[in-house]
Order: sequence, then C-alpha cells, then structure tokens
Amino acid sequence: MSSNKNENTSLQVEADEKHLLLDHNYDGIQELNHPLPSWWNFIFYAGIIFGVCYWVYYSFLGGPTLRDELKVEMAQVKVLQDEYKALTAAYNPEKFNELNKPENMQKAIAIFAENCVQCHKEGGLGDVGPNLTDNYWKVSKGTPESNYQVVYYGSEEAGMPAWGEVLSSEDIYLALAYVNSLKNTFAKGGKEPQGVKIDD
Ligand code: HEC
Repeated sequence: MSSNKNENTSLQVEADEKHLLLDHNYDGIQELNHPLPSWWNFIFYAGIIFGVCYWVYYSFLGGPTLRDELKVEMAQVKVLQDEYKALTAAYNPEKFNELNKPENMQKAIAIFAENCVQCHKEGGLGDVGPNLTDNYWKVSKGTPESNYQVVYYGSEEAGMPAWGEVLSSEDIYLALAYVNSLKNTFAKGGKEPQGVKIDD
C-alpha cells in the first residue's frame, strides 16, 4: 500500500524536462526548475527600481508636487489669457471699418437694444448714461476708439459695465458702429449735455 502511495506522488518527468530536474530529493520529493521568463523578471525588477527612484525623487529630492504642477500650469494659462486679452482689448480700426457698414446696422441696433438701452435709452437719447446723440462727451472723446475704451473697460463707479468680458468682440464693434451713427444727430428729447463739447 505504501509503495502505491509513493508511486502516485512521485514526480512524472517527461523526456524533454530531464534537464529541469533539480538534483535534490527530500524524502522522495523532487522538483522541476521552471524559472520565470526573463521579460517577466525584467519588468518586475525595473518596477522596483522605478518605484524606489520615484519615491526618493518626490519625497526627498524636491520633485514637484501636484500643487506645484498645478501652479505652473495655471501660470501658463494666465500668460495665454493675458495674450488673448491684449489682442482683443486693443482697439482695432480695421475691424471697426469692416463692421461699420449699413447692412450691419440692423444687427447693431439689436445689440444696442439688448444691452445698452436700459441706461442710454432707445436711440441713445440718454438716461442713467449720457446722451450719445449730442456733441458733448463725458468720459470718452466721441471717437470710435475712445468709445471702445469706455465700452470695453466700462466706467464702473458711474455704473457703466465693462462689456469686454460680456459681449463678443464683434458685438462690441457693432454697438460702437451704431453709437458712431448717433453722434451729432441731436435727436429730439435727448438728455441735457454732459461733459466736454467736442466738434468734429
Ligand atoms: C447700467 C447702465 C449702462 C449700460 C447698460 C450701458 N451704459 Fe454706457 N454709460 C453708462 C454711464 C453711467 C456712462 C457714463 C460713465 C461715467 O460717467 O464715467 C456711460 C458712458 C458710455 C459712453 C461714453 C459717453 C460719454 O459721454 O463719454 C459710451 C460710448 C457708452 N456708454 C456706450 C454704451 C454701450 C455701447 C452700451 C451697450 C453695450 C452701454 N453703454 C451700456 C451706463 C450704461
């Protein structure tokens, strides 16, 4: 009976496995040596080495934390935003001329009606904001360029919002085109003049 048991548990060594048989024998138990594939070992040890380097670099050698990386990336975003702002904040006479056309006036009036009439009144007659149909100018000089500064940056203490962050660049130029068409038309029922008289 015991010999049967031994036979059942004894190792079956196939002909092509002989070279893998280790030469020790523990109470009749023998082993085949199947080493792990070298690619597996390579990944395993490389993983350990990488892990140690990573830990040392980020824990002791001042490697950037996620917060540091965020700071750097946000600074890059700010540079791009500032560049974009500088690009759109500057008055662009070509863009004004391009949009200042009779066929755009209907759209320009609609933008004015939606965003400006609550303070400048229909037709720019003036209410909370100055009359835009006369030849007196309170904060701007009446030119499209100086009106652009007021519209883009606003005059917030006096209650004129900064439209640069609200309206698209095109809508601002269209509104300016309409304002320009109102200038010196002296429409009836306009608010009394405010500011400095500028004739041109
Ligand atoms: C909430 C009220 C309000 C709205 C809305 C508003 N404005 Fe004004 N606007 C003012 C006030 C108030 C002033 C005068 C600012 C000052 O005294 O510093 C002004 C000034 C101006 C001036 C310069 C006038 C001058 O006499 O120097 C222009 C041009 C102008 N606004 C255009 C616009 C346009 C275009 C829009 C719409 C896109 C608009 N405003 C929307 C209140 C407003």
